[in-house]
Amino acid sequence: MAHHPIDDCNHSDAEHFQEVLARGRLSRRHLIQGGLGLVAVSSIPLMGMSEARAEQKPAELDFDAVAKSIADQIVLPAGFTFTVLHATGDRISSDVPDYSNQGTEADDWSLRIGDHHDGMDIFHVGPRGRYTERDTRRAVLVVNHESSADAHFFHEKGQTTNGVSGKKFSQFSASSGGWDLGTRLESEVFKEINHHGVSIVEVRRGRDGRWEYVVDSELNRRVNGQTPVRMAGPDAHLADIHRFMVTRYDTTGKTSRGTLNNCGHGKTPWGTYLACEENWATYFYMPNGSVDVDAKTKASRQRYGVIRAPFTGTTGAPGQGWSAVATKATDDRFARWDVSAPGASAAQDFRNEPNTFGFNVEIDPLNPDAVPAKRVAMGRFAHEAAVCSIPVKGKPLAFYMGCDSQNEYIYKFVTTAVWDPRDEGRGMAAGDKYLNEGTLYVAKFNDDGSGVWIELNTANVSALNPGYAATYTFANQADVLVNTRHAATAVGATRMDRPEWGAINPKNGEVYFTMTNNSSRTVANTDGANPRAYADNDGLTRSGNPNGHIIRFRELGSVATAVQFTWDIFLFGAEEDAGAGINLSELTDKNDFSSPDGLWFSQATGICWIQTDDGAYTDETNCMLLAALPGQVGDGGAITVNNSLGGASGSKNTFIGATLGEARLRRFLVGPKGAEITGLTETDDGRTLFVNIQHPGENTPALGAGPFKFQSQWPGNEGHGPAGRPRSATIVITREDGGVIGL
Ligand code: FEO
Ligand code: CA
Ligand code: CA
Ligand code: CA
Repeated sequence: MAHHPIDDCNHSDAEHFQEVLARGRLSRRHLIQGGLGLVAVSSIPLMGMSEARAEQKPAELDFDAVAKSIADQIVLPAGFTFTVLHATGDRISSDVPDYSNQGTEADDWSLRIGDHHDGMDIFHVGPRGRYTERDTRRAVLVVNHESSADAHFFHEKGQTTNGVSGKKFSQFSASSGGWDLGTRLESEVFKEINHHGVSIVEVRRGRDGRWEYVVDSELNRRVNGQTPVRMAGPDAHLADIHRFMVTRYDTTGKTSRGTLNNCGHGKTPWGTYLACEENWATYFYMPNGSVDVDAKTKASRQRYGVIRAPFTGTTGAPGQGWSAVATKATDDRFARWDVSAPGASAAQDFRNEPNTFGFNVEIDPLNPDAVPAKRVAMGRFAHEAAVCSIPVKGKPLAFYMGCDSQNEYIYKFVTTAVWDPRDEGRGMAAGDKYLNEGTLYVAKFNDDGSGVWIELNTANVSALNPGYAATYTFANQADVLVNTRHAATAVGATRMDRPEWGAINPKNGEVYFTMTNNSSRTVANTDGANPRAYADNDGLTRSGNPNGHIIRFRELGSVATAVQFTWDIFLFGAEEDAGAGINLSELTDKNDFSSPDGLWFSQATGICWIQTDDGAYTDETNCMLLAALPGQVGDGGAITVNNSLGGASGSKNTFIGATLGEARLRRFLVGPKGAEITGLTETDDGRTLFVNIQHPGENTPALGAGPFKFQSQWPGNEGHGPAGRPRSATIVITREDGGVIGL
């Protein structure tokens, strides 16, 4: 279309997708070997959009959409069933007893499944225990564990502070003008630190087709808040990077401990897992009266929301209270969360501890001896998913990444090394080859439907915005990588409506990103890529962009190294009875949704799975999973959005994808109360889906004087594990007739 300046209409396969399915799965292996994909894309001559549309018309979905639900259960279409693979607290070694679900465990969480299941991927085990992309009956499932907002469920009587149990720690609020951390129990704090991180467990498919996890596999392990990690980065800047990481734990800054708040994820073509650190900034604290950090460190912390203290506010929790243990003075496992600066240098305290978080953490799932690596070259921010472009032999790879906070950015990292399929299965050595050296970019979306990637380097941050030095001065390239958010603001990136997950369409390499919502979007600061600002006054009232949208873009020439792209908005979330100016994607009762978060393309079916983490529509429905069959960027057209909010009104031009209708967008699952639906992977034949149910019962009040007043008691209430407290879980969904899911 004329209004898309980079409208090359490239697409990879004119073949009907059902025919691809009939022949066998569409896998990365096929793409690497050149049967389909980006190499083929660029050789297809340009064609008119109408021809492209006709040839790309996707198949229809084949299941009955489920209704919205506020029941405390999993709702699936007729003909589908689920089992619980594992839930929070399940043991991964028979050295510990079965989970009580009463909070009576000791600190044995290094041998149990963590909490808040989130991003997830499956790694098949091939001959001689090596990673393979081929479907086998034996695999390792890796699951992120996001946070500890419900930590009161892990203790018998809720959290204990100053000897009082039953309140959430965060309820011990201001006393005389500042926060008093009080004193927390060592045993409780260890339980909380250790249920964070990542669970890595072996799963097997039995003869009956059912997947179960193996309690005593040698491959089972936890990477948690205390696991040793190494700080990895580009050779030329590594010494400078390590200077940012110096603490009393490692005065060289080469190593650190733990990963926290692992949300979205990535899977590399060589077979490793990227656990993305999202809201890590909320774990640190400075006591009142403690020695403050220097001005530059303060400016860094401010941009990330690290408590900059002495904290004198009266709302919000000061960290997680993990430094408030009586033995802190002599035990660095607690002292590390106090990020004040009492020492003569950074080597004598933990002022730099926050610099060691905010990265993609690479883990080799099939090698328990491999030390996880934090990939500093990919930037430091509230990482939310790191999705790899379709690998093309002999070409660089791109990893697309979101920073999930209001008005933050979309990034990409392009590897210096070119893809060599022989690196499949080479673990962390391959990770060092691809993820240390490369170029980091941030996205700028232009209102005309084009976009550019701006490289983040010392030259650009000063050339593009010399005035930014008044806010933050970059010492060197290591500083750009460690203070990525500052760098991205300096170069003028587009402020997005909370970038959550990304996903790559395996058919054409186009990149999709969920913008989950943004309560701070106003009519005045809308832009083409974030064009809505409105009030939702139906039921729960919210404003800004409360229902979110999904943006997608095609790189110029469909190559990972492009510095220009074309975008449109694939879908706008909305209540089906919202006004026409809000429900722009013409959603109906069968496919309306709010706050898209998890996003994942099936290699087997081409379905784009959309998961929600919502608080705007929960009066009418719990969070959900939808299936979509997308076309491609530019298959819709230009529209004008008429906004009205808070007395202001105005219009904004944007580009919207073709209306999908119920044939190509349907609700597949609704979760239990208070849960977010997040994390999804499948077996390569498309017949088994693994889906994560995070924090059911999230809004259960603290214990108080009486028994818990549960918002949810899932999954125990559906017969999965001990009844009582709600638990996050991985469920396994199959079709009762054993067929491919969704088509
Ligand atoms: Fe952890 Fe951005 O959701
Ligand atoms: Ca509403
Ligand atoms: Ca409604
Ligand atoms: Ca998320």
